[in-house]
Amino acid sequence: MTITHTAKKTLAAVAGIALAASLTACGGGGSDAASTGAAGTTGTTASGSASATAASTGGYNLVPKDTNGDGLITVGFAQVGAESGWRTANTQSYQDYFVAANGFKLAFADANQDADKQKQDVRDLIQQGVEVIDLAPVTDSGWEPVLQEAKDAGIPLIVSDRQLSVSDDLYLTYFGGNMEQEGKTAVKWLEDYIKANNVTDPINIVHLQGTIGSTAQKGRSKALTDAAPANKWNVVYEQTGEFTQAKGQEVMESFLQQGKDFNVIYSENDDMTYGAIEALKAAGKDPKSYIIISFDGNKSAVQMVIDGLIDVIAECNPLLGPQVGDLIKKSAAGDKIAKITYSVESFIDSTNAAEKIKTAFGS
Ligand code: AHR
Repeated sequence: MTITHTAKKTLAAVAGIALAASLTACGGGGSDAASTGAAGTTGTTASGSASATAASTGGYNLVPKDTNGDGLITVGFAQVGAESGWRTANTQSYQDYFVAANGFKLAFADANQDADKQKQDVRDLIQQGVEVIDLAPVTDSGWEPVLQEAKDAGIPLIVSDRQLSVSDDLYLTYFGGNMEQEGKTAVKWLEDYIKANNVTDPINIVHLQGTIGSTAQKGRSKALTDAAPANKWNVVYEQTGEFTQAKGQEVMESFLQQGKDFNVIYSENDDMTYGAIEALKAAGKDPKSYIIISFDGNKSAVQMVIDGLIDVIAECNPLLGPQVGDLIKKSAAGDKIAKITYSVESFIDSTNAAEKIKTAFGS
């Protein structure tokens, strides 16, 4: 069963307006979460006040310092890998920002999506004597010993992009997306779409998951897993595409070969979405007859929204370098910084894609 393209496009605007209203009402983040704008400017919290500089850092005492007196702060960046367009833009934003002109040096470690290698990467950065560590974790568990080692070495550690399941006293601050909220944004868009279109056919969903055990996967998957039974949606296939285009395509090809009917694709990043669309085309299917939900907001994906191939993208902002730099400077200056700062993120659909593409990241 597919949902007709005409119905999708006619009623998308209605769904978009309804979601915009609901996002304004719900905001994002937890009790000590502040929000920072996607373009790098300080935004507002859920309660509408300015960025929460007075929040506690959870009993963590280390602050960034120029310990070797070279006039620069050396930041060791333990990056996930290079699996996606989002990741490329994220790395670039660190490489552009953490330069001498801004008071920084960058030491870069690429984990190649390997959670064990990344733990060794952090240990290597500790050995190198970097002055701050920024960790974008591949997965969220097993970090306590390494974080304790960084703390014992007196090196402040910032978590960015994806969160960790560790106690607050093991890191200075988290800056990045609120992954579960991103998932809720996507799910809400689908609920509104179904209502606005009076869709009565069964909703059969293909779920392409990101890297299992990353908070990007856990949060986005949880939003769907929670919403599916409540809405009587069927998740007919669910498998990781590891946040890559190649794997997304391979997994979608195997679903198509297995032959179950579906009409919605919930793909946890743009790269897997590109792969899924390629697989549909190769199988002679029209991608426009499916509701395609994606995450991130790469320029090419936003163009696909304009072209009617993707229906909605829940945004995830990769341009974190300058904002992390700001937090380091504030903390070094003795200002209290929030324990958690979530990027302000929304969604992109046919109602706003033409505007959003003007500031979209990547190519
Ligand atoms: O953690 C952010 C996620 O990681 C992005 O959605 C994805 O594209 C990347 O690989």
